[in-house]
Amino acid sequence: MDRHDPLPIIIDTLMAMNAFPEEVDLPTVLQATQEHVQKLRLAFRDIPCHVDYSDRYVRGAYMLAYFPYYIEPVHTVLSRIRLAGTNPIPNKRQISVCVFGSGPTPEALGVMAYLQQRCPTCTQAHFSLLDAAADGWQRCTGLCFDQLQPHYWDGEATHSLHECNLLSQCNQCGTNCTAQLQNADLVILQNCLNDIIVDRNAVVGKAISIFRRMRPGAIFICIDLNFDEIRRALQAVSEQVTAAGLGTVLHPVAEAHHEISRSFDIPPAMLEHLYIGDDGLRPRRYTRFYALALQKV
Ligand SMILES: C[S@@+](CC[C@H](N)C(=O)[O-])C[C@H]1O[C@@H](n2cnc3c(N)ncnc32)[C@H](O)[C@@H]1O
Ligand SMILES: [Zn+2]
Repeated sequence: MDRHDPLPIIIDTLMAMNAFPEEVDLPTVLQATQEHVQKLRLAFRDIPCHVDYSDRYVRGAYMLAYFPYYIEPVHTVLSRIRLAGTNPIPNKRQISVCVFGSGPTPEALGVMAYLQQRCPTCTQAHFSLLDAAADGWQRCTGLCFDQLQPHYWDGEATHSLHECNLLSQCNQCGTNCTAQLQNADLVILQNCLNDIIVDRNAVVGKAISIFRRMRPGAIFICIDLNFDEIRRALQAVSEQVTAAGLGTVLHPVAEAHHEISRSFDIPPAMLEHLYIGDDGLRPRRYTRFYALALQKV
């Protein structure tokens, strides 16, 4: 992906929306965020990981230390599918994207960066964001679509937020997920399997139930942390979908995880007041992940 520069906008918007305590300056905010970034780093060493996203400081730490890194993976996967000879986004004016476990939705910006580069016909995209904590993320998704979107795509992006718990049956989650899915050209699950993978078979079953409800030709992309358990789960989804004749593989799960280099700068204030070099407080240079992409038959 081309170089981009999300962090100054994220910092300014979080400060303006008082995401942190009022009346404090940026150095104080960044210093106070250190412990939350450290806790997130620790949590993401575990599988499943346990993070309480209802805490606004945790969400603020995620926006600073994780969100920018997770814009790029879906762009990488879409670009690889195209390189391998399939156009992953249909050649039409308006597309519809479903994002499960969407949180603040960095993956939407990755899709938009791809639209900007490769899909001149597409001028409108609707993102249905489905998350177990959709309400809590509302202001951060606003930041993504209102402040950041214009820097990634010239088109018009709209979004809707829906509560959907991946651990429940979708007919119990109160959202009409099936209708959203049947309408989608692209369905993305990024960094949410790692939150829920207690029982691998249950997670694989859920992914396949999502895939079954997609319409023919639609693309399913699953991206998650570089744990062996994630690789096995994605591999099982891939095998079961192909064995049942439900879909074809566009991007197989690789034996070794992917590693992409950071393509944005860390602002000096973050280097001075947040990334002070202690354990869990060094800026990451790479994003590591496993990825699978399938097309519905
Ligand atoms: C690590 S964040 C990932 C957010 C975003 N996809 C990204 O890549 O940055 C994990 C997200 O999964 C959501 N989540 C956790 N458990 C969930 C569940 N059982 N059902 C749906 N979403 C869940 C959380 O609310 C959070 O937004
Ligand atoms: Zn649902």
